[in-house]
Amino acid sequence: MRVGVPRERTAGEERVAVVPEVVARLEGFTVAVERGAGEAAGFADDAYEAAGAELVEDAWRDTDVVVKVAKPTEEEETKLRGGQVLIAFLQPLTDRPAIDRLASRGVVAFAMESIPRITRAQPMDALSSQATVAGYKATLIAADRLPRFFPMLTTAAGTIAPAKVLVLGAGVAGLQALATARRLGAVVSGFDVRPAVREQVQSLGATFLDLGVVGEETEGGYARELTAEEQQRQQAALEERIPEFDAVITTAAIPGRPAPRLIPASAVERMRRGSVIVDLAAETGGNCEVTRPGEVVDVGGVTVVGLLNLPSRMAGHASQLYARNVASLLTHLAPGGTLSLDWEDEITAGACVTRSAS
Ligand code: NAI
Repeated sequence: MRVGVPRERTAGEERVAVVPEVVARLEGFTVAVERGAGEAAGFADDAYEAAGAELVEDAWRDTDVVVKVAKPTEEEETKLRGGQVLIAFLQPLTDRPAIDRLASRGVVAFAMESIPRITRAQPMDALSSQATVAGYKATLIAADRLPRFFPMLTTAAGTIAPAKVLVLGAGVAGLQALATARRLGAVVSGFDVRPAVREQVQSLGATFLDLGVVGEETEGGYARELTAEEQQRQQAALEERIPEFDAVITTAAIPGRPAPRLIPASAVERMRRGSVIVDLAAETGGNCEVTRPGEVVDVGGVTVVGLLNLPSRMAGHASQLYARNVASLLTHLAPGGTLSLDWEDEITAGACVTRSAS
């Protein structure tokens, strides 16, 4: 099977779907990498060639499978032909028209977001690998923007108290953000609506913040969306507690839904000048009312970071992890390099979002 790896053309996307290390692992596959595809992530053409890839001008032509990070642009969609396999973050829950266009072209499309979160599929779980990067990066951004130290310092000029960091939403990204903040020496607290998370937060040496709101876990481990009344209670409780913290990192999400609104503008007003909010949910509208997606804004002396696509800001390791996820999926769909799609298989059927009629 011939696998095409195009250069990402979506603005701000610096990752690449396959890295040289993974080319060498894809036994039975020929990997055709577009020249310059890995450059932004730190992987030179020479390294791909040395790993056994072919360098090509067009990775869409003459390939059986195209692997990408971001969904194809509309121009790229026109390069896909019926029966060709596409693997990428396709946003199946939030971009239905794009999925319909792929379906009408007869593309066999697999969305990385749709891989079931079962133990067997963990090596393919790109949501988790990229959330790990995002959580880590969010803490570093908070530390960078905060005009204070994270750790406690005892110096000749006296003692500096450690920063207090709160992480709202303690899924994969949130737990990584907590762990990173703790390693930097901050005093950390976490909150999530799923009751099971309390222990995970505590196991990282963080305090679980009690807001008096307990949600539920749905099938697949995700949170149920809070009712309007619960959400209001959560906002009111947070408004009381938030001024205690120097940095707040928010990661709360409900798949396929706009980000839950956790921090009202009135809560931001009560924070101390110099405090920082890093809103990882900016992509889906933001957990904070004053977040501006894609921007860093100053709201009454509080820095509110709404930067998008944080994994792309650490494109080397993000690509390495993503490429391993992609390779696991590829070898699942095409063992030994021969495509063999078993629609009875939970992973294959779950991840597939369009398939040709034939
Ligand atoms: P996510 O990115 O969809 O959401 C992030 C977090 O926001 C979740 O922990 C969610 O509970 C929380 N949240 C939602 N509404 C909230 C609110 N109003 N206030 C505070 N927090 C709120 O979730 P993620 O990180 O992708 O994964 C969530 C679940 O999936 C976890 O249970 C995790 O253990 C499970 N999972 C299972 C895997 C497997 O079995 N292979 C792999 C990865 C994750």
